[in-house]
Amino acid sequence: MSLTTPNTNPQAATQGTSTPSTPSTPSTPGPEPIIRCTNIAKLFDGRTVLENINLDIYPGETMVIMGGSGSGKSTSLRLMIGSMRPEQGTIEMFGKDICTLSESQLNDIRKQFGILFQSGALFNSMTIAENVALPLQEHTRLDQDIIDIQVKIKLELVGLREHADKYPSQISGGMKKRAGLARALALDPKILFYDEPSAGLDPVTSAQIDQLMLALTKQLGVTSVVVTHEMDSAFTIADRMAMLDKGRILKVETRQWYERLRDMPAEQVADLPEDEQLIRQFLRGDADGPITARRDQSAFTDDLFNS
Ligand SMILES: Nc1ncnc2c1ncn2[C@@H]1O[C@H](COP(=O)(O)OP(=O)(O)OP(=O)(O)O)[C@@H](O)[C@H]1O
Ligand SMILES: [Mg+2]
Repeated sequence: MSLTTPNTNPQAATQGTSTPSTPSTPSTPGPEPIIRCTNIAKLFDGRTVLENINLDIYPGETMVIMGGSGSGKSTSLRLMIGSMRPEQGTIEMFGKDICTLSESQLNDIRKQFGILFQSGALFNSMTIAENVALPLQEHTRLDQDIIDIQVKIKLELVGLREHADKYPSQISGGMKKRAGLARALALDPKILFYDEPSAGLDPVTSAQIDQLMLALTKQLGVTSVVVTHEMDSAFTIADRMAMLDKGRILKVETRQWYERLRDMPAEQVADLPEDEQLIRQFLRGDADGPITARRDQSAFTDDLFNS
């Protein structure tokens, strides 16, 4: 038995799934993907860390990429922002294959997306306002007074206008994240990439960042790609979710599909395909299940052959 896909979002719900339980081509014509990853493989030192990655992301949606530590989430994000290239496959953004672009062509595309790094990555010697102004000074020819207005608008969006003149060392971790977000928004990007936006934040601050991300998506219509292993956050912000495991995408489905898998009664679990059992364990954070069974098994095998 396998979960069937709900019809809440027919365009998205039929995209990118790999098992026979759901079709892999859209049944209705819809918008073109804003990002299309096709058959991506990435190797480090001859070791495959991503393989056969197929993922379409549509305008205006929030796609959450989740998975255990080392499953390849950050690497996927780095490939999508063009900071490294895959050994195989194509990554189309706004219809262009970014893997074949020169650095200057890539820079033009980069102006259309914002990135929120894990730490916020602010410059400590600059005020919050100066940090947010930086992309506008580097990438536009706007007058300083127009830049000042833009900075105020972006700081107001993230609720930091009254802290504009503080330095990063004078604000909390959650405020740094918000300042990083204001900077990521400086050039009015069409796509926002986030790597672990809730990492290191207390639950309340983390929930506030989730609400801010939701509000921004609604108000500005941006497409968001969010890497996280915080399940509360994932279920709050996602339209669709992609589960990575050991460099492979197990499933791309709607948030509702993942909710149903998470909440499925335990007595029905044995009938699920193994991948779905594994995903369910991950979503619920259960101590027992295929993930831990696999770990125990491989530890035993290593022990057996290395002794
Ligand atoms: N620059 C690199 N050189 C060599 N190996 C790397 C490099 N970057 C990542 N890896 C390896 O690729 C695999 C995937 O790493 P990645 O950082 O994408 O995982 P992740 O899912 O983001 O994990 P985490 O949740 O811990 O951040 C890991 O085995 C990692 O050790
Ligand atoms: Mg990572």
